[in-house]
Amino acid sequence: MAEQQFLERVLFSEEQLAKRVSELGRQISADYRGKKPLFVGILRGCILFYADLIKNISVDCTLDFMCLSSYSGTGSTGHVRTMLDLRESIQGRHVVIVEDIVDTGLTMEYLMKQLKDRGAASIEICCLLDKPGNRKVEVTPKYIGFSIENEFVIGYGLDYNELYRNLPYIGVFKKQ
Ligand code: IMP
Repeated sequence: MAEQQFLERVLFSEEQLAKRVSELGRQISADYRGKKPLFVGILRGCILFYADLIKNISVDCTLDFMCLSSYSGTGSTGHVRTMLDLRESIQGRHVVIVEDIVDTGLTMEYLMKQLKDRGAASIEICCLLDKPGNRKVEVTPKYIGFSIENEFVIGYGLDYNELYRNLPYIGVFKKQ
């Protein structure tokens, strides 16, 4: 496949991802028993993670999405914008933000500020990947799939210039 020339190595296989995502689903289901959480997926990177995660949620829940943008190539522009907002009100809801990766933290900081005044009962972040070594602002996801080194990764929803989101595994992007 064309991605091979851009791939340094596979970081998490399909099987490793499935196992960890089901563990996260079970943990979140236990924590939100009786609470009917609202899962807010952050497009577009969340898509595969989100779909697999909610299949592992065993409590009643509702789904909504936002589209935020900050990245260009392999670097954050640091300037976050809302491209698509929620359809549902979050007033009184227990919100779980589902994000592909937290890197500098700027996107989640921006989102938390956006959602803070909308009257949610609680807001937590669930990210598949965390790059704590690259943080510029304090953001603490409650649910983390894997913590990784400061490397640029692709696959399972994560892109490089909109490519490679469809890979079923996560790999380290090969610098050209
Ligand atoms: P932050 O605002 O720097 O935390 O970046 C968050 C967003 O940047 C994520 O939702 C991703 O879309 C993108 N991003 C950060 N690191 C990577 C990466 O290694 N691969 C692909 N996208 C990334």
